[in-house]
Amino acid sequence: MKTIGFGIIGGGLMGREFASAVARWAHLLDFDGRPQIVALCDKNPALYPWYKDNFPSVEQITDDYKAMLANPKVHAVYVAVPHNLHEEIYCAVIRAGKHLMGEKPFGIDKKANDAINQCIAEHPNVLVRSSSEFPFFPAMQRIGEMIEANAFGRIIEAHGGFLHCSDLDPNKPINWKRMIQFNGEYGCMGDLGLHVCHVPFRAGWTPKTVRAVLSKIVSERPDGKGGMAPCLTWDNATLLCDAINPADGNGFPLTLRTHRIAPGQKNTWYSEIWGTKKSARWSSLNPKILEVMDYTGGDQTWQQVQTGYESAFKSITGPNFEFGFSDSIQQMWAAFMYELIHGKPLKKFAGCVTPQEAALSHRLFTAALKSHKESTTVTI
Ligand SMILES: NC(=O)c1ccc[n+]([C@@H]2O[C@H](COP(=O)([O-])OP(=O)(O)OC[C@H]3O[C@@H](n4cnc5c(N)ncnc54)[C@H](O)[C@@H]3O)[C@@H](O)[C@H]2O)c1
Repeated sequence: MKTIGFGIIGGGLMGREFASAVARWAHLLDFDGRPQIVALCDKNPALYPWYKDNFPSVEQITDDYKAMLANPKVHAVYVAVPHNLHEEIYCAVIRAGKHLMGEKPFGIDKKANDAINQCIAEHPNVLVRSSSEFPFFPAMQRIGEMIEANAFGRIIEAHGGFLHCSDLDPNKPINWKRMIQFNGEYGCMGDLGLHVCHVPFRAGWTPKTVRAVLSKIVSERPDGKGGMAPCLTWDNATLLCDAINPADGNGFPLTLRTHRIAPGQKNTWYSEIWGTKKSARWSSLNPKILEVMDYTGGDQTWQQVQTGYESAFKSITGPNFEFGFSDSIQQMWAAFMYELIHGKPLKKFAGCVTPQEAALSHRLFTAALKSHKESTTVTI
C-alpha cells in the first residue's frame, strides 16, 4: 500500500469533498495506494476546526500556500480555489515538483491556461490532472465502454449538458462565481463547461467549429450588505459544434449546454448519443437509469437498464445498491491515485481530465465568446 502525502489549497466546498472521500478510503477494495492529507492551506480560518477535528493526519495548517509547498511531506496537492488564482497557484505547485489535481476551468482564461501548460511542459515528471467526476457514474462508465467498442455505428448527433437552477431566484446573493474578476469572462462555461467536455473529448470527438448563443438573464444580485451588485457573467451558454468522430472520420452535430438558469434543474449533468446502430442516454436526474436503443431493423424500442454500484474501481458496496455524487468524487480520486501509482489510467473512461483536454476546452470557450459576439460560426 503506497501512501501519498497530500496538501489541500482551498479547503471550501470541493476541498471538503476531497477530504471526505479520503476519510472513507477503506470503501475501496484491493486498491494499492491511499492519499493522506498532511497539510491544509486556506485564507479562511473558520474552516480549520473541521479539518482539525476530523483529520488527525493534518500536521500543517496555514494561510500561505508557499509555506505548504515547502513542506517535504506534501507530495501531491489538490487546489480548489477561485478561478483568478488558478494560474499562480497551479504553476507554483508544479514548479515545486508536487503532483497536481486542479479544478476547472484550469485557468481563468486561455492566457492563464497557456501559462499553466507551459509550466507542465517544463516539469514532465509531475502528474497534472483536472477534476471532473460525472463520467464515473456507472451508467456513464457503460456508455464509455460503448464508445470504446465503437458500438454506435455512425454517430447521428451527440448532446451533453450541465444544468443548474438556483440562479432563477433573483434574490440569491452574489458570490465569487458570479463576478468576472474571480470567475472569468467564460461565466457559466468556465464553471460548468469542462464537465460537459470530458466525455466527448475523451472519445476524441474534436469540435472543428462552434456557433454559440450566450445569455445574461439576471443583471444584478443582492450583494449581501443590503445593496445590489452587478452580475456580469454569462448565465447560460448553448454551443453547437461540428465534431469529427475519429473512428470513421465522419462529422456530426455536438451540442454542449451549460446553464445556470435551467428551471427546475438541480445539478443535472446529462449525455445523449444517437447512432445508426445504437443510441444511449443518461442523466444525473435519474442516476440509476441508463436508456439504450439497439437498432438492427424492425421496432425502435428504447430500453431502460437500472444500473447499480458497478464502479470502475472496486468498492465494498454491493452492485445492487445505489451510487451517488460523493461516490463519483471518490472514484475520480481513485483514478488520480491509480494514474499516479501506475503511470496510466485504469481504462480510457476511468481517467481524470488531462491538461490537453482542458486546453481544448479553452480553445472551444474562447471561440464560443467570439461566436456569440460576432454572431458567426468560429473555427476552433
Ligand atoms: N468538480 C466539481 O464538481 C466542482 C464543484 C464546485 C466547484 N468546483 C471548482 O472548485 C474550485 C473551488 O470552488 P469551491 O466551490 O470549492 O469554492 P469555495 O469558495 O467553496 O472554496 C474556495 C476556497 O478557497 C479559499 N481561498 C481563496 N483564496 C485563497 C488563497 N489565496 N489561498 C488559499 N485559499 C484560498 C477560500 O477561502 C475558500 O475556502 C473552483 O475552481 C470551482 O470551479 C468544482
